[in-house]
Formats: sequence, structure tokens, C-alpha cells
Amino acid sequence: NYYAVIMAGGIGSRFWPVSTQEFPKQFQDMLGTGQSLLQKTFSRLNKIIPSENIYILTNTVYLEITLKQLPEISEKQVVLEPAMRNTAPCILLSALKIRKENPEALMLVAPSDHWIEDETAFASDVQTCFDAAQREDVLLTLGVAPTFPNTGYGYIESDKSDASEIKIVKQFREKPDYETAKAFLAAGNFLWNAGIFIWSAKSIVDSFEKHLAEMNSLFSKGVDVLNTSEERHFIDKKYPEAENISIDYGILEKAANVFVKKATFDWNDLGTWGALYDKLEKDENQNAVVNAETLLMNSKSNMVFTDSKKLVVLDGIEDYIVVDKEDVLLLFPKKKEQEIKELLKEVSNKF
Ligand code: GDD
Ligand code: MG
Repeated sequence: NYYAVIMAGGIGSRFWPVSTQEFPKQFQDMLGTGQSLLQKTFSRLNKIIPSENIYILTNTVYLEITLKQLPEISEKQVVLEPAMRNTAPCILLSALKIRKENPEALMLVAPSDHWIEDETAFASDVQTCFDAAQREDVLLTLGVAPTFPNTGYGYIESDKSDASEIKIVKQFREKPDYETAKAFLAAGNFLWNAGIFIWSAKSIVDSFEKHLAEMNSLFSKGVDVLNTSEERHFIDKKYPEAENISIDYGILEKAANVFVKKATFDWNDLGTWGALYDKLEKDENQNAVVNAETLLMNSKSNMVFTDSKKLVVLDGIEDYIVVDKEDVLLLFPKKKEQEIKELLKEVSNKF
């Protein structure tokens, strides 16, 4: 009864110029391991979930690359979105498909672009959550101990006095402002939302019915054609009408049956160049290098990434992101990494 959906429709704009709309980071070997982030995610889930029960949710334009990277799945396991509508619509659609195939199904929802090394700990946490989702009508999140007031994450509050392994969530707050995030950290009873969810297909569809009723009725009209040859036509026609909203804002902030299990594995969301830098091995001067031949002199704490055969020579460069791509050369202060998203807008206006 175990199913998984991998969300692979984002464009990873803070990883520009390596991640682009044509070739987003989840399809790339960001860690220099010989596998794309999507392939790594798939194999991690495949240890617990049979490959024929793993669905990939992505944009229509990425069908070919998805099938090429995951030869173990069939085309009907790729759910194609004709438009980007954030994570709520694609999760509802896949839950309806999975529930139709197996009314008892338990499903895990995972992003395609995270770094998790301890796959055994991951599998054991997921199993604990599957067991809970089987017993009760609950929405389970995995929480990670926060280390700084990151405003790009969701925060999960539980009761300090609650000693259970799986705790009821008092408050789920998506992307708070900096001051709020600081207060959450100081309070000590908040975890970061890792973006990995476990629930029964039935429980999550029920919560859409309650909290995103309009979206639910839009897609529920098509339940008869789901998992048939007419599904594609229905999705192409109706999907773009769905509200553009994430599962975090749409469901998790509102639902009363949200629970959290603290993750026992190390987790990194690989959302920015700095996050990638943190996870890579460094040389004696704290430089991290992916796919590049380098000669580094008087240079430290740089993140160097290339996809060319060029030799990278640096002297006197510190705390920089150095990216060499066919058509773009980026030298950008690591401290300002969050601004790459904005920069990208400017760049696309100019070129
Ligand atoms: N299929 C599909 N379609 N996938 C999408 C879409 C879409 O329209 N939009 C985003 N995704 C995928 C991304 O590729 C990523 O794997 C995942 O869904 C989450 O989307 P992000 O855009 O990366 O979300 P976020 O980082 O802002 O926030 C989420 O993740 C944080 C942890 O990394 C939230 O769940 C936060 O609460 C959480 O802390
Ligand atoms: Mg993210």
C-alpha cells in the first residue's frame, strides 16, 4: 500500500546559471556524484517503496528528460502539468489518482532536490510515519532542528511538554519574516519543515475538501477519467484553472490534524549555492569545487562549479560563487546568494 510522489516541477532559480528553466537543478548532478538529484531521490525512496508505485510530478516539458533519467518507471507514472501552479494542485491530483488505484494507499510526498545522506535513518523515520498514517487520519511532516532564522522555510511548533515520538502540531507557519523566525528559534519548540509529507491518500483528499474546496471540486469532476487514456486531455484542460498555491499555505497552515516527527537524519534543502557549498568536501582553504580543474592561489571559501573543460585559475578571491557555463560566467559574493533570484529577473529582461 505504499506510494510516493516526487515533486520535480520547480526551476531552482537561486541556482542560476546552472539551474535554468530548460534544465532545472533536480535533473542535474549538483553534487558531482554522477547522479542527478532526481535520480538520488528516486533511489532513496525505492528502498521503501516499489518502483511502480513512485510517481513523478513535473511540467510537460520535462517528460523526456524524466524518462531518460529514470528508465525503471513507465510513462504513466509521470504526471504532467501543463502549467506551473505550485505544489498544492499537483499533490491533490496525484492523491486522487493514487486513491482511485488503491483506496487504502499511504503516500509519501517528497521534493526532488534535497540532500539526505543517511538513507537508513530516513527509511526508518518514514516507516514510523507510514504506520501512524495507517492507524489514524493524520497529516505527518518531518521536522528538522533549526540552526538559524531562515525565512525560506516553514516552521512547526509543538508542545514543549509533549514527549511523544510523533507530536501534534500547534502551529504551522510557512516562511515567516526574519523577526518572527528569530523568535521561533529562541522559543526552542520549533522545527523546520523538511518538505517531506506522509499521509493516506484519503486523509489528504479529505483535507483538500475542507481547506481548498474549489480546487477539490475542479479536479474531482475528472475522477472518472483519471488513470485512463483520457486523463491527459482532462489535465491539460483543467489544470491551468487551479489556484497557484503551495501545500504549506493551502493545507498545512490550516489543518488541525497535522503532526510532526523529528527527523533522525541530516537534511539540507540544497536551495542555494551556499547550501550546496556546506555539503561538499572542501580543500585545505575551504574551497568547494564541482566538475572543475582548478589552480587556486590565496583564495578561500569559494564555491566553484563548471560544466566546461576549462581550467579555473583564481588568485586572491574569497567567499565567491564562481560558475562557468557555456553562455554565462558568474562571479558573485556568496553572502548575497539569495539575490540571485532577483538578478535572474533582470538578466532575462536584458538578454
Ligand atoms: N511538480 C511540481 N509542480 N513541483 C513543484 C512545483 C510545481 O508547480 N513548484 C515547486 N515544485 C517542487 C520543487 O521542485 C521542490 O522539489 C518542491 O516542489 C518544493 O518547492 P520549493 O519551491 O522548493 O518550496 P520551498 O523551498 O519554497 O518551500 C518548501 O520546502 C521547504 C524545505 O525545503 C516548503 O515546504 C517549506 O515549508 C519547507 O521548509
Ligand atoms: Mg525548496
